[in-house]
Amino acid sequence: MSERRPLIAGNWKMYKTCSEAVDTIAKLKELVNGVSAVDIMIAPPFTALSQVAETVTGSNIQVGAQNLSWHDEGAFTGEISGPMIVSTGCSHVIIGHSERRQYFNETDASVNQRIVAAIRHKLVPVFCVGETEAEREADATFSVLDKQVTDGLQGIALEDLADLVIAYEPVWAIGTGLTATTEQAQEVHQYLRGQLEKAYGSDFAQSIRILYGGSVKPANIAELMSMPDVDGALVGGASLDAKTFSQIVKF
Ligand code: PGA
Repeated sequence: MSERRPLIAGNWKMYKTCSEAVDTIAKLKELVNGVSAVDIMIAPPFTALSQVAETVTGSNIQVGAQNLSWHDEGAFTGEISGPMIVSTGCSHVIIGHSERRQYFNETDASVNQRIVAAIRHKLVPVFCVGETEAEREADATFSVLDKQVTDGLQGIALEDLADLVIAYEPVWAIGTGLTATTEQAQEVHQYLRGQLEKAYGSDFAQSIRILYGGSVKPANIAELMSMPDVDGALVGGASLDAKTFSQIVKF
């Protein structure tokens, strides 16, 4: 059995002003005070990163950004770089979320560049992969995931991947209320771990955390977490409310 420590991560997407973010994180900090069995991470919008990071200083909550540029600085209006994110007090960054792939032309190649940038700045990459409903129906789930993982990690040395977190988020389950069954999640997580083993060896594959994402809520987290290859969750909608998210953390 592996020693993988669960990670429950919240993705606030484009929700919450600075004051709303501080209000929620302050409540969450109290609610999860003393929880030591799982890692907890919240990814607020960029605008609230500094204040959220400051509010959780010294607590068991870590903070992540939702994206980063692959450039460190330059004339790239509207972009946010790794050093800027690090300077807010952040430790993690979500990369390749399906909403970025769907609405903002994120590709496996740009995901790869962003993962390289995250590693360069010692940010933990939370690398999102997942198939669409059409791809699942066409029996292409595994081939889609293979391409996302292989291209996303292209050219990155094994020793640089030690902190990598993978989030499997079936696109058809995000924000839809549809959750993959625990068996569907386990099947894919096991498959991904097997592919990682082929590419990088068993020690690596056994140490890497694979989170499930897609309509995770207090009612389904325990069953998902009972699966041997599910190491945590990336939670969208249900992370916006401190009480609800704390119930997921305390599954
Ligand atoms: P959801 O989002 O929990 O609202 O389905 C998950 C995600 O997009 O990370």
